[in-house]
Amino acid sequence: MSEAGIGTASADFVVVANRLPVDLERTADGNQRWTASPGGLVSALEPFLRSRKGAWVGWPGVPGVDVDPFSDEGMVLYPVSLSTEEVRDYYEGFSNATLWPLYHDVVAPPVFDRGWWESYVQVNRRFAEASAEVSAEGATVWVQDYQLQLVPSMLRELRPDLRIGFFLHIPFPPVELFMQLPWRAEIVRGLIGADLVGFHRPGGAQNFLWLARTLLGLEPSRGAVGVRSRPGMMQVGNRTVRVGAFPISIDAAGLDTLARTKEVAERAAQIRRDLGNPKTVLLGVDRLDYTKGIDLRLQALHELLQEGRVQPEDVTFVQLATPSRERVEHYQRMRTEIEQMVGRINGEFARVGHPVVHYLHQSVDRRELAAFYSAADIMVVTPLRDGMNLVCKEYVACRHDLGGSLVLSEFAGAAAELTSAFLVNPHDLDGVKNALEAAITLDPAEGRRRMRALRRQVLTHDVDRWARSFLEALGSEPAA
Ligand code: ADP
Ligand code: G6P
Repeated sequence: MSEAGIGTASADFVVVANRLPVDLERTADGNQRWTASPGGLVSALEPFLRSRKGAWVGWPGVPGVDVDPFSDEGMVLYPVSLSTEEVRDYYEGFSNATLWPLYHDVVAPPVFDRGWWESYVQVNRRFAEASAEVSAEGATVWVQDYQLQLVPSMLRELRPDLRIGFFLHIPFPPVELFMQLPWRAEIVRGLIGADLVGFHRPGGAQNFLWLARTLLGLEPSRGAVGVRSRPGMMQVGNRTVRVGAFPISIDAAGLDTLARTKEVAERAAQIRRDLGNPKTVLLGVDRLDYTKGIDLRLQALHELLQEGRVQPEDVTFVQLATPSRERVEHYQRMRTEIEQMVGRINGEFARVGHPVVHYLHQSVDRRELAAFYSAADIMVVTPLRDGMNLVCKEYVACRHDLGGSLVLSEFAGAAAELTSAFLVNPHDLDGVKNALEAAITLDPAEGRRRMRALRRQVLTHDVDRWARSFLEALGSEPAA
C-alpha cells in the first residue's frame, strides 16, 4: 500500500460505502494491520473496483482513528473517521438496530431512537462531504447500502455536476413495514438525490416507487419494473430519477478457477479426512447474523438425528460463522443460543473424536473457503430474509465437478435465480428437514443435472455483468 499521487477532486469513479474493503486491526503486540472486511458488499465490489482503478470512500472499521488516503493495488482508499459515539449511534444503533431489522421483515424488533437518527444524519453528511472532495468534475459516484441513504441528496447539493447512483444491498421492505419508520420521508428524499436507485429485486423497486408517490407526492411511471430492464422513472425538479432491479453476483470465473487448482482440491480432500471421512458433509457459511437462520438449520439437523432419519456416524455439519456486530444486543443473544444448540447436539450425538457439528466462529481466507465449498456435499443456506446471499452462488461457482447440492431459502434474493436448488421455506421446519433428507439421499445423476443448471446461471450472471448493467442504466457506461 502506498500514499503516492493522491489528490483531492481527482477521481472519475468513486464507490462510497460504510466500510472500506479493508479493516484496520490492532494486533495483540500493539501493532496494526489491514485485513479483508466482512460481508457480501465488499466481496462483490472489491474485484470490480480494482479492475476499474476507482476510488473508495469508507470507514476503516475501528472508532476514533484518522488515516490518510492511500492506494492499494490500483484502488485509492479514502478513510472516513467515526468517533466511538458515532459507531454506537450511527452504526450499531440506527444502521444495525433500526434499519437492518426493519428492512429484514422485522425478524427482530427495530428500535426507533431520535438520538441515533441525529447521528445517522451527521455521519451521512460527513460521507457526502468526503465524496464531494475526492470526485473530479463530472465524475460518477456510486453510493452503497442502507447505512448511507441520505448521501445521494446531500452530495447532489454539494456537487450538482456529479452522476450519482445508489444501490441497496439488503432487501427493501414491504411498504407497510417501511411506513413504521418515523423518518420515512427523509430517507426517500435522501435516495431520490441519485440519478439511479437500484435494488436486487423488482419488488423492492416497486415498493420504493409507491413510497415516492405516497410520501413525497411524486408521479412515478406505472409500468412493471423488470430485471435489468424497464426501470421506473420519475421527474424530480428538472431531473429524471430511474429506479431499477439489478441482482448482484460474484466473481464467478475467479472462484471457478481457484476451485480447480490442485492446492484447493488437496485441501478439500484433507478437510474430509480431518472430519473422519463421513458419508455426508453439510456446510453453513455466514456472518453470525440472526437473519441467516443458523439456529433453524441446527434445529432441523437435531430433529433428524433424534428421529433416526440421519445417523450421527454418517453426517458431519460444519458451520463457519464470521463474527459480526458483536456489541449489538440481538447478535449477542443469538450467538449464545447457537452455541448452546451446538453443545446440545454434540452432547447427545457425538462420539469421542467425532463431533457431529463443527462450529468455527472465525473468518477463513478465500482459498480455504473454496476448499470447504469443494468438500461439502450439501450447502445449507436458510436465511429468514436476505437481500441476495452470495454464499450460495460461491458454492455453485466452486462445483466444477458438478458434485454437491444446495438447500436454499425462498426468502433469499438468490432463490429467484437458483431455481434448481432445493428451495425451502425456513419457517417450515418439517419442510427444511425433508429437503435436507432429500439432498442427503439424492440420486447422483439428478444432483449433477441440478448443479449443471445452477452453474449455467451463476457463471453467466457474474458481478461484472451486474455492475455493467447498473452503470449502463446510470448512463456512465457505454451499452454492451
Ligand atoms: P452478507 O453480506 O449478509 O454477509 P452474503 O452471503 O451476501 O451475506 O455475503 C457474505 C460474504 O462473506 C461471502 O462472500 C462469504 O464468502 C463471506 N463469508 C461469510 N462467512 C465467512 C467466513 N466464516 N469466512 C470467510 N468468509 C465468509
Ligand atoms: C452486509 C451489508 C453490508 C455490510 C456487511 C457486513 O453485506 O449489506 O453493508 O458491510 O453486511 O456488515 P458490517 O456491519 O460488518 O459492515
